[in-house]
Amino acid sequence: MVLRFSGLIVGAALVAAALPAPAQPSAADAGAQAFLKRCASCHGRTAAGNPGVYPPLSEVGRHAGSEAGRTYLAAVTATGLSGRIEVGGKAYQGYMPGLRAATRLEERAAILNWLIRHNRSKAPLFTPAELTRREAVLRTPAEVGRARPAK
Ligand code: HEC
Repeated sequence: MVLRFSGLIVGAALVAAALPAPAQPSAADAGAQAFLKRCASCHGRTAAGNPGVYPPLSEVGRHAGSEAGRTYLAAVTATGLSGRIEVGGKAYQGYMPGLRAATRLEERAAILNWLIRHNRSKAPLFTPAELTRREAVLRTPAEVGRARPAK
C-alpha cells in the first residue's frame, strides 16, 4: 500500500517533469512575491493589516467587482491614498504613499491580481492596459480617498 502510494507520487513527478517548464513564474506567484516586497511591511504578509493603523486588504475583491472600485484600486496603488476610510468595521485615517515610481506597471498589475484571488474573488484580473487607463483618472491621494466606494 505504502509502496503503491509512493509509486503514484513518482508517476506524477515524471509526468510533471515531461511537461515544458513555464517561461515565467505564473502571474499569481509573481504577484505574491511582489506583494511581500512592496506591501507586506505595512499590510502584513497575509494582507490582514494591523487594526487601526494599516487596513486589511479584505475588500479588494469587492472593489474589483465594480467600475468605480477598479479605478479606485488602480489609483490607490499608483497614486496613494489619504482620508478617512472604514474597512472591516474599523476606521482608518492614515496616508499611503503611491507606488508608481517604485514599481513597474506589470508589477502593480500582478500585485492587484494576486490580491483579487487572495480575497477569493472571481472578478476579472487587471491587464497592464486597463491599469494604465485607470491610473490616469484620479490624480492625488485625497482625490483617491474621496473616490472610495463605501459599499
Ligand atoms: C507605508 C505603508 C504602506 C505600504 C507600503 C502600502 N500601504 Fe496600502 N495603505 C496604507 C495605509 C495607511 C492605508 C489607509 C490610508 C487611509 O487611511 O486613508 C492603505 C490603504 C490601502 C488600500 C485601501 C483598502 C480599502 O479597502 O479601501 C489598498 C487597496 C492598499 N492600501 C493596497 C496596497 C498595496 C497593493 C500595496 C503594495 C503595492 C500597499 N498598499 C502598500 C499603508 C501602506
